[in-house]
Amino acid sequence: MWDDLNENLDSLRSQGRLRQLQPRRIEGVHLIDQAGRRLINFGSNDYLGLASFLASKTIDVDSVGARASGLVCGWTDRHQLLAEKIAAFERTEAAIVFPSGFAACSGTVSALCRQGDLILSDALNHASLIDGCRLSKADRIVYPHRDVKAVARLLAQHRTQYRRVWIVTDSVFSMDGHVAPLRELCGVASDHDATLIVDEAHGTGILGDHVSGACESLGVKDQVPIRIGTLSKALGGQGGFVACPRVVAEFLVNHCRPLIYSTALSMPAVESAIVALEHPDELRRRRELVCALSRQLRSQLGLSGVTAIESGIPIIPIPIGSDAEAVAASQRLYESGMFVPAIRPPTVPEGQARLRVSLSADHRAEMLGRLIEGLPSF
Ligand SMILES: Cc1ncc(COP(=O)(O)O)c(C=O)c1O
Repeated sequence: MWDDLNENLDSLRSQGRLRQLQPRRIEGVHLIDQAGRRLINFGSNDYLGLASFLASKTIDVDSVGARASGLVCGWTDRHQLLAEKIAAFERTEAAIVFPSGFAACSGTVSALCRQGDLILSDALNHASLIDGCRLSKADRIVYPHRDVKAVARLLAQHRTQYRRVWIVTDSVFSMDGHVAPLRELCGVASDHDATLIVDEAHGTGILGDHVSGACESLGVKDQVPIRIGTLSKALGGQGGFVACPRVVAEFLVNHCRPLIYSTALSMPAVESAIVALEHPDELRRRRELVCALSRQLRSQLGLSGVTAIESGIPIIPIPIGSDAEAVAASQRLYESGMFVPAIRPPTVPEGQARLRVSLSADHRAEMLGRLIEGLPSF
């Protein structure tokens, strides 16, 4: 009955691309595997170490589940408070909270980009934006990664044939640590009356004086009307959000399927995000720590070709190339007591397998020393 699925899995296995869930325990910046081995964890997106910090705070809840979708009765006064705090953090008229960042991205893009519209989407966008584009009834063109000239050309060629053109991009690319050229994209968007939707999943909590992301850091908040973020990476919890003009929020509440047909974000996740946003000084203090570690690691590894803003991003890819070599390098680090995931296609393009180091404010300088010793030369 399942022959086709078995064949597919066998084919992945023979290519060394079979993925499996591994039960582990996480303790701060350590990961404890099933055999009880304690490894330094360089694989988490908890960049600020807030996941444990929030667990140490009293999070009062009188229920766990939100009990219903937002529109039925699951949007509580606490969801409303969180949405207001996010809108204040992002300096937008409104914000909406989603059960995950994936739902926020896929749901927002698929709902807002409609028939008669065109989407221009960066080639390395996250799967959640890609799925949003696929589910949308708009036409779409994928432009080469960060290629503003290509975007300008496409706009000049196609703008008049469409009611609305959307430029959709990650702000910080999750597998490369690149920052999107947001100022330049805003420039071409304004020249051609296009609208940006930016996914700040890896920018939130890391970039900008108020740590609200790359749009803030690059001074383009006012030109990027729709900014999506997640509560589950630097903010240490779970869930996603869209910060936007009030009319967009109202439109999403009426048309965005993952918002309408999914139970609202759980209460502990709502409360922990509220606590995170109530500690702006702690966020900034931890951001300074992790960005300093990131700059230090890049400099010690001699990684060049990154811009000033990128040098502090706590995502540091170590290029390897072949899948087998990336897995072997990850395995050697594992044997030396460090977890650094090997990232292979389809997450990255063919032939570009890599190690993806992610840093946390709770890593210590000596941990970076061990990592540098264990990394392959490149
Ligand atoms: C760029 C980007 N956008 C969106 C998401 C989805 O966020 P979440 O994990 O909250 O669903 C991720 C998470 O992997 C991501 O890396």
